[in-house]
Amino acid sequence: MVPCGSGFSREEPNTDFNPNHHKAAAMRPARALIDLQALRHNYRLARELTGAKALAVIKADAYGHGAVRCALALEAEADGFAVACIEEALELRAAGIKAPVLLLEGFFEASELALIAEHDLWCVVHSLWQLEAIEKTQLHKPLTIWLKLDSGMHRVGLHPKDYHEAYQRLLASGKVARIVLMSHFARADELDADATAQQIAVFEAARQGLAAECSLRNSPGVLGWPQAPSDWVRPGLMLYGATPFEVAQAEAERLQPVMTLQSRVLSVRELPAGEPVGYGAKFVSPRPTRVGVVAMGYADGYPRQAPNGTPVLVAGKRTQLIGRVSMDMLSIDLTDVPEATVGSPVELWGKHVLASEVAAQAGTIPYQIFCNLKRVPRDYIGE
Ligand SMILES: Cc1ncc(COP(=O)(O)O)c(C=O)c1O
Repeated sequence: MVPCGSGFSREEPNTDFNPNHHKAAAMRPARALIDLQALRHNYRLARELTGAKALAVIKADAYGHGAVRCALALEAEADGFAVACIEEALELRAAGIKAPVLLLEGFFEASELALIAEHDLWCVVHSLWQLEAIEKTQLHKPLTIWLKLDSGMHRVGLHPKDYHEAYQRLLASGKVARIVLMSHFARADELDADATAQQIAVFEAARQGLAAECSLRNSPGVLGWPQAPSDWVRPGLMLYGATPFEVAQAEAERLQPVMTLQSRVLSVRELPAGEPVGYGAKFVSPRPTRVGVVAMGYADGYPRQAPNGTPVLVAGKRTQLIGRVSMDMLSIDLTDVPEATVGSPVELWGKHVLASEVAAQAGTIPYQIFCNLKRVPRDYIGE
């Protein structure tokens, strides 16, 4: 335990305290602001860069941005959507989304096929057992199948030697109206790796002689691999305005962040040099330090692993996280932001502090910090 020294912290009074505050609609200030205009900008960028049709990947609740709201915002212009599974697709249909919806993992049981046909869902076939299930199932409507090749990622997808035969069997089954040929990149975010060019070559060889549209490119593919064949592209992360690359990349600079994770300062105190902050005393003030506490924690999805020094914006100025992130609160250094006080707005990530910066500091990726968001209410602008 650190003893309370003579210079122990003094909490600054909240001169703005309003005893009627609880009557107002706004309560805990931790919120995610979702800019749907930025989402549309990023979708258009994917199309502009590729000249292809684009399925907006909105699985996992649109990477934490709200799948239904994002789909409604894009529906007028999107060529379609992609989700992981039928539960996610049915949520979109229940919300009135009529555009094509692709199931990226296909079906898990043959019993889903009737629903897939009934709701006009498009379906990936990535394994021979799925092909057999389609052959054996009676369907009232023909399916649109995206036939997935394992071009080198070795997660799911048909072996190149089985690809032609699977295509012919789907056609011969009489259950399929249309086939799109697809594969998925494992390392497109590594701009100097050979792996992506090798995957493209494997895909090109496997689709020789098959007269069908094709789809390879995810976000890093859209932004960084113009040589990949693409009737269709499948951008996910880039729609939300975050770069998939660890290095600067020209096209990624054109993305607009969609989510602003924001909150407010709820307490401010002055500490002399040598005092610890937070659980485990992971920060000890190297100088007299003004500490702000923000209503945001790992229960909201802010990464607990974010270390001292992770950037944060308060009252319009960049400063940094200090001490361990707690469940509901985190601490920031206000020493050089004297204008910041109780109630000052804080951006945890957004247009000034990029989610990819926070992710890198926390040793993770923007995909994960977006998907981890929870408890925080979402507000939408730019409808
Ligand atoms: C098959 C497939 N296509 C496209 C995407 C979208 O990828 P990204 O978010 O990198 O654009 C994913 C996401 O994991 C995927 O699994």
